[in-house]
Amino acid sequence: MNGLKSKHLLGLEGMTAEEMGVILDTAASFREISERPVKKVPALRGKTIVNLFFEASTRTRASFELAEKRLSADTVNISKSGSSVAKGESLRDTAENLQAMKIDVIVIRHGAAGAPHFLASLLEASVVNAGDGAHEHPTQGLLDIFTLKGRLGDLKGKKVTIIGDIAHSRVARSNIFGLTTLGAEVTVCGPPTMIPPRIEELGVKVEMDLRRAIEDADAVNVLRIQLERQKVNLFPSLDEYAVVYGINRKRVAMMKPDCIIMHPGPINRGVEITQDVADSDRAVILEQVTNGVAVRMAVLYLLCEGVQKEPPPVDAAVEEEKTDSKVT
Ligand code: CP
Repeated sequence: MNGLKSKHLLGLEGMTAEEMGVILDTAASFREISERPVKKVPALRGKTIVNLFFEASTRTRASFELAEKRLSADTVNISKSGSSVAKGESLRDTAENLQAMKIDVIVIRHGAAGAPHFLASLLEASVVNAGDGAHEHPTQGLLDIFTLKGRLGDLKGKKVTIIGDIAHSRVARSNIFGLTTLGAEVTVCGPPTMIPPRIEELGVKVEMDLRRAIEDADAVNVLRIQLERQKVNLFPSLDEYAVVYGINRKRVAMMKPDCIIMHPGPINRGVEITQDVADSDRAVILEQVTNGVAVRMAVLYLLCEGVQKEPPPVDAAVEEEKTDSKVT
């Protein structure tokens, strides 16, 4: 087996450190493919993957599509506006029709928490959660962990602070599940209205004072203020948020000199993070994006090739690719 317990990736809640290790090790071996002049291996040739994005996305959608293309899978992209969902078709009917076309994987982003779990209960295909409401965003969590491990090494005992709109953040939840399983010490900080009650039960520390939250951190993960998910105003104004919780040069000076700054994107520049900090050497934001492709390649490869025993045959794949180019 591939080392994963499920044929779906629905969340990092309940995923073991060993399972995460398999994905991250596989991602490490795939990362190099994106550095090649010809960024393609035939690992998923013959597999069909549908990207079903019912919510806006730039990074996740492009990253999954590139991951699929670099593994030579056949891909189909469906968004809400261009599909029969716009005519009233249900998610169930949409998914069952796609399944009838004998697809292998559905990657789904949906505004409703649990939508990927619903599809997983219906379909033969593997389902990958690309973000469901405020619930989970497991590949973002994995790419953040991959980036953290690349920078900090073993995460046991490392201090990671997540700042901002924790209540509406699927990124925060996936990071919390993954990081605590790997032994990191996670602190959350933000306006009291954006810290969910009893979040400590997930194994994190709540620190209301921003200076105390960041001064010992090995990494600070700055979240986007998700205005589209707020039903009421949870703080007086964006300007006030920036003054009280924004990560600016003054706050970077309070951090340890080697503390890295992360952000899942998209960034509200000048709100949760200033322009100069987002573009500084301390920020690893674009490194996260680069790592995202490798992590998604690993997830898709492992889910599709569940019965394969060996890690990805990168070198063999190069040889096969060379032979293919000669033939064609
Ligand atoms: N980080 C992230 O999910 O970005 P997108 O919404 O652009 O996919």
